[in-house]
Amino acid sequence: MAPTQLPAWSALAAHRDTSGSVHLRDLFAADPERGSALQFEAAGLMVDHAKQRITAETLALLTDLAEEADVAARRDAMFAGEHINVTEDRAVLHVALRMPKGRSLIVDGDDVVAQVHEVLDRMAAFARKVRSGQWAGQTGEPIKAVVNIGIGGSDLGPRMAYRALRPFADRDLKVRFVSNVDGTEFVEAVRDLDPATTLFVVSSKTFTTLETLTNATTARDWLLGGLGGDESAIAKHFVAVSTNAEKVSAFGIDTDNMFGFWDWVGGRYSMDSAIGLSLMLAIGPEKFAELLAGFHEMDEHFRTAPAEENLPLLAGLIGIWNSNFLGADTLAVLPYADDLGDLPAYLQQLDMESNGKHVDLAGRRVETDTGPIVWGQPGTNGQHAFYQLIHQGTRLIPCDFLGACQPLRDVGRHHDLLMANLFAQTEALAFGKTADEPARSFDGNRPTTTILVDRLEPKTLGAIIAYYEHKVFTQGAIWGIDSFDQWGVELGKVLAQQIIPELEGQEAPVLAHDSSTNALIARYRAARGR
Ligand code: F6P
Repeated sequence: MAPTQLPAWSALAAHRDTSGSVHLRDLFAADPERGSALQFEAAGLMVDHAKQRITAETLALLTDLAEEADVAARRDAMFAGEHINVTEDRAVLHVALRMPKGRSLIVDGDDVVAQVHEVLDRMAAFARKVRSGQWAGQTGEPIKAVVNIGIGGSDLGPRMAYRALRPFADRDLKVRFVSNVDGTEFVEAVRDLDPATTLFVVSSKTFTTLETLTNATTARDWLLGGLGGDESAIAKHFVAVSTNAEKVSAFGIDTDNMFGFWDWVGGRYSMDSAIGLSLMLAIGPEKFAELLAGFHEMDEHFRTAPAEENLPLLAGLIGIWNSNFLGADTLAVLPYADDLGDLPAYLQQLDMESNGKHVDLAGRRVETDTGPIVWGQPGTNGQHAFYQLIHQGTRLIPCDFLGACQPLRDVGRHHDLLMANLFAQTEALAFGKTADEPARSFDGNRPTTTILVDRLEPKTLGAIIAYYEHKVFTQGAIWGIDSFDQWGVELGKVLAQQIIPELEGQEAPVLAHDSSTNALIARYRAARGR
């Protein structure tokens, strides 16, 4: 049934019409306990929804909606390994990637937890060899630089987590990420590296992705060019992370040097699988295990906590309130932690590739807006760029503010200044300011959630990511869409394959695109002298 047909949906619409425009100033004035009443804690996260435009009644109606939409049944189906990714007929089991050793989960006849730990143990053994210098490159020298080659889910997770967890990393090991098919990224990533001491981790679930295979081929040429051309160097300088052993082998990487995962791990849900290998090389197996423990703690909370206290569930529901009832189109993710600087980009894929869908599970066109446009960048930089529009523009932009109480590098007054800005922004957005001059007045009533952790460490990062994964899951379950496929990325890939020979060929091609695309291709060819 479409969510709009559920009784709670109509009740929420009526509730919005009667009290949806009540100002946060009045909500706070009416309830002196509001600040603490709308704070929720689990797995090391404190999530403060007090500055969302909600009341106890809104939350009650939203949890009714979750019940009527049977989010719990869908969640249980995911945890049980049912094929909830219907268009690809796959289980969705990223939660198994962080289940502790010894636990068992039989899916389609296999104990997936045992499989996960077998790979984790191989990754740990490999990481220890590389980190200790025992793994020698072609010239016998130890590895001093790791370059992860991957894109989308095979890049954004390890890239984001490496930046977030640099204080826990071996800083003598250079770690770089190459994703873009723009050759600039590869050239810049390796310009100060020595092939003799560089290890490439080629990460691709399918091992067919144009960008990754192009970069991996360029990396192989760079390596062999620098090491005299002996192909035996590949085994010492290339490892692969993939579900596709055949393609890995066809590329020339020995499958002994391959770390596998499974079709039940979606790309954007894979940073805690072998896709995290470059991160594990940087922070070591023990810290990687702590990261997994943080994910798992949030998974268990999501699986077992009652709706009224369930952090990801409530976050998903409040997002639906903002999007479908208050009319917000976007969500700004604003980390007040430079370490989380790549979190907005990571969440863009997680949320927008998951819930950017226009049909429901039965293939019918949805009747409501689905996933929001996710964007953002770290505070305080954003304050001097786009916050003006959030404060005084005409659009409603809900924001997630994230911060850590304890800094990992305590430099002078910096951390207090940083966090003072976070708290000030949420206060200003909620309460605004009346002034005589219209240009100087702030309406306020702009909804925000603040997420605080004590310290940004592997465990809390894991909990933050799992929180967002399950938030996105909750929203997909309410909208009744498949959050785990991504057909929308296919058309552009197919068209690019057609256009590549039209750009590269020496003979003028017969162009059969629309007149705009034809003209662009012709212009490009002329500029390239073709
Ligand atoms: O952008 C589409 C996509 O399929 C993502 O879902 C995925 O994370 C990315 O490409 C990379 O895919 P692969 O890991 O197979 O190279």
